[in-house]
Amino acid sequence: MRIFEQIESQVRSYVRHFPTVFTTAKGSHLYDEQGKEFIDFFAGAGVINYGHNNPKASEALIEYIKSDGIIHGLDKATSAKKEFLETFYNTILSPRNMEYKVQFTGPTGTNAVETALKLVRMVKGRSNVISFTNGFHGLTMGSMSVTGNSFYRDEAFINRQNVTFMPYDGYFGEAVNTADYLRKFLEDSSSGVDLPAAIILETIQAEGGVNVASVKWLQDIEKICRDYDILLIVDDIQVGNGRTGNFFSFERAGINPDVITMSKSIGGGLPLALVLIKPELDQWRPGEHTGTFRGNNLAFVASTQLLSYWENTNLAEAVAYKGRILEEELTKLVDKYPELNADVRGYGMIYGLHVPMRGFCSDVSSEAFGRGLIIELAGAKDDVLKFLPPLVIEEDLLREGLNIIDESIRAVLDHRESVIKGEEL
Ligand SMILES: Cc1ncc(COP(=O)(O)O)c(C=O)c1O
Repeated sequence: MRIFEQIESQVRSYVRHFPTVFTTAKGSHLYDEQGKEFIDFFAGAGVINYGHNNPKASEALIEYIKSDGIIHGLDKATSAKKEFLETFYNTILSPRNMEYKVQFTGPTGTNAVETALKLVRMVKGRSNVISFTNGFHGLTMGSMSVTGNSFYRDEAFINRQNVTFMPYDGYFGEAVNTADYLRKFLEDSSSGVDLPAAIILETIQAEGGVNVASVKWLQDIEKICRDYDILLIVDDIQVGNGRTGNFFSFERAGINPDVITMSKSIGGGLPLALVLIKPELDQWRPGEHTGTFRGNNLAFVASTQLLSYWENTNLAEAVAYKGRILEEELTKLVDKYPELNADVRGYGMIYGLHVPMRGFCSDVSSEAFGRGLIIELAGAKDDVLKFLPPLVIEEDLLREGLNIIDESIRAVLDHRESVIKGEEL
């Protein structure tokens, strides 16, 4: 690991949590230089929904490269892009009666968010955007301004105006309906909150601690948008692409966003980001928002293959089934370790185990890493273990990973007890 410490910037993070050199990956496993096998409950933060090196994608990629397919095309028409657009339209948009234009942006999630924010402001001629507490939308200037966590915001000494934060669903517990709260600010012309161009939200806040918005809340927010002529942006970068069992995370609420941001697994493991725009809002002039790497032909090739998972309901059913396993097994852990005061939150195949004890989740993640499991943390205080396995993970492997979590919790508790008793001294 010396070269990483020697010349890679201090900013590196995951390499600190998982200190080994990974070499290969297949399905829901990663392998390191020593040949040690790890179960992946992190899935590249949502990039690897279809598993590492899914053969459908790998074989098509090898063929494409061997045939000298176009690798870089700016936003020129290529056969890879054509097939992707046709497949995306036929498999995803058309069966859902969704009429959207597809805009390719720079290749990572934050590029899609920047683009969406620029578009809604331009269309509405308003500067304000409403975002929610604990939201995470990326770390470039615009996307960071709608991201809540001060850990990221404080580093940038820039103007972060033109955004109003409002409480997400459940922010004050059961006591306050935060959709009504938001409505009140908009209906009161003296509230000091400027009419926004848009409201941006995640239907499940992933980085923010696996906070699941209720169907009712999502519908209420959509209604507010319609009542006040505000555009609704759903950021589906982490919990879209089937994570909730439907292709889009908002399908469970039956809402109809004006703009949708997508990235992570839409590229089939390769960088790709896009914005879906209601046709009447597609008011760009040609070339008005450009970038060298808009669309990634290799990602188009991989994605075109992987979208075939949505030709039938098998994957959706598998997500619902494995999601139930996650919920049941995590609930058992909550009951087994009452001293943790833990709680379970989640939906589909994104789950969180919230443990309100400083450093506990981080210790469990380290312990699990030693035992061959990769799992990351979420929440402003890193107090949530985030379960984000590939959607295609085998049931046995899912259960094996959950057993490792159980063993790791036991080990961390034993260790903490022995420290309290002074056995370590
Ligand atoms: C909901 C959401 N939006 C935006 C982003 C930013 O994506 P990227 O890190 O690819 O810029 C993320 C990343 O985790 C995310 O979860």
